[in-house]
Amino acid sequence: MQRTLSILKPDVTRRNLTGAVNERIEKSDLRIIAQKRIQLSLEQAQKFYAVHRERAFFNDLCDFMVTGPVVVQVLEGNNAVDNYRTVMGATNPANAEEGTIRRDFAESIEANSVHGSDSAENAAIEISFFFSEMEIVG
Ligand code: CMP
Repeated sequence: MQRTLSILKPDVTRRNLTGAVNERIEKSDLRIIAQKRIQLSLEQAQKFYAVHRERAFFNDLCDFMVTGPVVVQVLEGNNAVDNYRTVMGATNPANAEEGTIRRDFAESIEANSVHGSDSAENAAIEISFFFSEMEIVG
């Protein structure tokens, strides 16, 4: 069993697609074992995405992430990191395969509906950014 961090981005909450996206997740053998809807501050968004701070898209990405609430959640399942990345599809929805969350719901590379950890190591760091162990109920 493995855990990964999932974020439903502001384009999802704005369009009332939280349930539709989570239906895809739950139908893919991933269990939502922690969840909260929060409004990120700009400082929190910048801290969360700090690995990208030198990238040209960093400021726009952080600005977008605070345009509305996000839903942060911990997913658990076999091979959860890679499984969820497959379910999400490519970062740029234009390159995402049919049937993936980003292909079907994302608006652009920035408003791309979902975030998922890129490794088990980063998943542990990202999960602890938002959740204490007490809030994770497997
Ligand atoms: P996410 O998985 O949340 O991780 C970083 C985010 O930066 C990514 O999804 C995209 O939404 C956003 N982003 C914007 N432009 C780019 C880009 N050119 N390359 C990669 N990520 C980008």
